[in-house]
Amino acid sequence: MSKVTVIGAGNVGATCANVLAHKDIVNQVVLLDIVGDLARGKALDTWQQAPIDYYSTKVLGTDDYKDTKDSDIVVITAGIPRKPGMSRDDLISTNARIVKSVTESIMKHSKNPIIIVVSNPLDVMSMAAWQSSGLDSSRVFGMAGILDTARYRAFISSALDVSPKDIQALLMGGHGDTMVPLPRYTTVAGIPVTELIDSETLDAIVERTAKGGGELVKLMGTSAWYAPGAAAAQIVEAILKDEKRVFPCCVKLDGEYGLKDIFLGVPVKLGKNGIEQIVEVKLNKEEMQSLNDSAKAVRSVIDVYNNMDLS
Ligand code: NAI
Ligand code: 2OP
Repeated sequence: MSKVTVIGAGNVGATCANVLAHKDIVNQVVLLDIVGDLARGKALDTWQQAPIDYYSTKVLGTDDYKDTKDSDIVVITAGIPRKPGMSRDDLISTNARIVKSVTESIMKHSKNPIIIVVSNPLDVMSMAAWQSSGLDSSRVFGMAGILDTARYRAFISSALDVSPKDIQALLMGGHGDTMVPLPRYTTVAGIPVTELIDSETLDAIVERTAKGGGELVKLMGTSAWYAPGAAAAQIVEAILKDEKRVFPCCVKLDGEYGLKDIFLGVPVKLGKNGIEQIVEVKLNKEEMQSLNDSAKAVRSVIDVYNNMDLS
């Protein structure tokens, strides 16, 4: 019997719950929001989609943490999203409080869940959830790399007019404009992308990827939700099925890539225990410099977080 709770029934949380229900891999999805009727309504709507789309996943909407009891996995999407002109980091003062209180409430009702953080600023909110949970760091991490890599893969797919299914890619670093897409570790059905796309076009794709979140905020007046919700659901699936999939996730580093006391996006192996391995790939001097620059940007947000009074 598996149970997954999604906190926050807004754009990303409701999408994540809906995608999860469609995958038919969880007995029950609990969708919780402080706006209880929003969660109840979206859960009921998703349940009423079951006879049409043919799944059995039970979906419950609530504002009561008692309903989250004994969750195997919890996805945190609670918090405010960006509006035009805002960076992800501008969200910290509101979202740090929300993520802390949500995590404490989760831990009152589930003993040893795996927590996947989506709320922004992602790298620091992952750290905040880990600190508030008291869980091992293999069980608390953030989703961003799958989304950012998906954007990068989609842009490459459009540039080459090939299926996005055939683009394999790696992207590391923080979930911000300093993220580090890695063309040297990008292939099209095994063919290095650097042999198929000229460097100027690739540079433009890398740049568009790094600013990919902002592009959508400009178009919609709020941040994206279909790809983010599906990306979080993909992590849940990898864990529940013990798939040992390798994805970039935002995890606590303890000396890997020469970095410590920071949550940052790196490739990891995901299985039933959460993060089962941090994969260390060889980076050249320029790539390492970009990763360090990204870590520096994340550390500046950690400083803001550390100076906040959250009591
Ligand atoms: P949204 O505004 O549509 O939904 C957020 C929901 O959280 C609202 O329904 C709100 O009532 C709820 N909420 C607020 N405080 C709460 C609390 N204390 N307990 C329970 N629920 C609470 O926002 P959206 O678009 O779903 O984004 C959610 C978060 O995810 C934002 O911080 C956004 O920046 C982030 N995000 C992160 C991505 C990533 O790649 N990591 C991608 C997309 C969004
Ligand atoms: C995104 O990248 C805002 O983090 C969110 O779409």
